[in-house]
Amino acid sequence: MTATEIRNKFLRFFEEKGHQIVASAPIVLKDDPTLLFTNAGMNQFKDYFLGNKQANYKRVVDTQKCLRVSGKHNDLEEVGVDTYHHTMFEMLGNWSFGDYFKEEAITWSWELLTEVYGIPKDRLYASVFEGDEKDNLPPSTVALKIWKTLLPDNHIVFGNKKDNFWEMGDTGPCGPCSEIHVDCRSDEERAAVPGHLLVNKDHPQVIEIWNNVFMQYNRLKDGSLQPLASTHVDTGMGLERLVRVLQGKSSNYDTDIFMGSIEETEKISGQKYTAGDSKKDVAFRVIADHIRAISFTIADGQLPSNTGAGYVIRRILRRAVRYYYSYLEVKEPLLHLLIPGLAKQFSDVFPELQAQLSFVSK
Ligand code: SER
Repeated sequence: MTATEIRNKFLRFFEEKGHQIVASAPIVLKDDPTLLFTNAGMNQFKDYFLGNKQANYKRVVDTQKCLRVSGKHNDLEEVGVDTYHHTMFEMLGNWSFGDYFKEEAITWSWELLTEVYGIPKDRLYASVFEGDEKDNLPPSTVALKIWKTLLPDNHIVFGNKKDNFWEMGDTGPCGPCSEIHVDCRSDEERAAVPGHLLVNKDHPQVIEIWNNVFMQYNRLKDGSLQPLASTHVDTGMGLERLVRVLQGKSSNYDTDIFMGSIEETEKISGQKYTAGDSKKDVAFRVIADHIRAISFTIADGQLPSNTGAGYVIRRILRRAVRYYYSYLEVKEPLLHLLIPGLAKQFSDVFPELQAQLSFVSK
């Protein structure tokens, strides 16, 4: 399956389960003082969770452009060095606003991964919140019970507040979560070290792909948790990681999402990408990643500048330039040459880049 087919299958699966397909919100946030950029699919739905606004649809599905380069969720230094973190990434999400809850969310995620996408069940692990004394939060017994009907005990791990209690920022809607991890190692490696020992241990082949958050609280400025009037579901699956698993690759950059930009950079630089750890290979990955963040952010209205959100984009732009200048020996501007290919690749799902091609390139 191509990345486009994988994205569409996600949207159709939930559409068939009564969800309305909605568009991604802009990656740039102008009306939320707690965030510079959209860092999760749930940002645009924050007011529905808090009960400040009524949702038009109780069930929604989308793919959201996200940027995790500032504030609580910041992955910038990992990007390009490893093979599975990104500045901009697509978060596939299904949403319940005061409608279905844990039972449906968990069983549907299982159905989609194992029956529709065909991921072998013995490669999947689920994590469950163990509770937290300081916040007076109980362990997630309901999620545990549901997972026990789907997975053997040694495929369920318990996680603390850091991994299994999701919060958007210092304040705002939050709740316990259940993550789904995939073990992509070889059979020999899996026989030698069981996968549950590697969940959430930064192993490049045992990676989280999907987070199911059960929104139950609002974190207030004084640090306390206030129960929400209704409960909601917020799930987020990284498209780039899912595609890598389904395309049987060991790196997100070897999928059809990034290969176009990498091949274009090879042509321009006359250098070869060898998918290794050399500075040159890191440079190829940095460029393929950063060009997406820069292009889509500018298309959504944030130019590079020397303050605030604009400065974050300028830093990403500078990091990309520094890598091609220093490690690919390219001394002329390169990034703008990658934009037409990118715009074409995303024209069916994010047509805003194609529409502003010459502006963004300039
Ligand atoms: N809000 C959760 C996350 O960003 C799930 O979508 O991981």
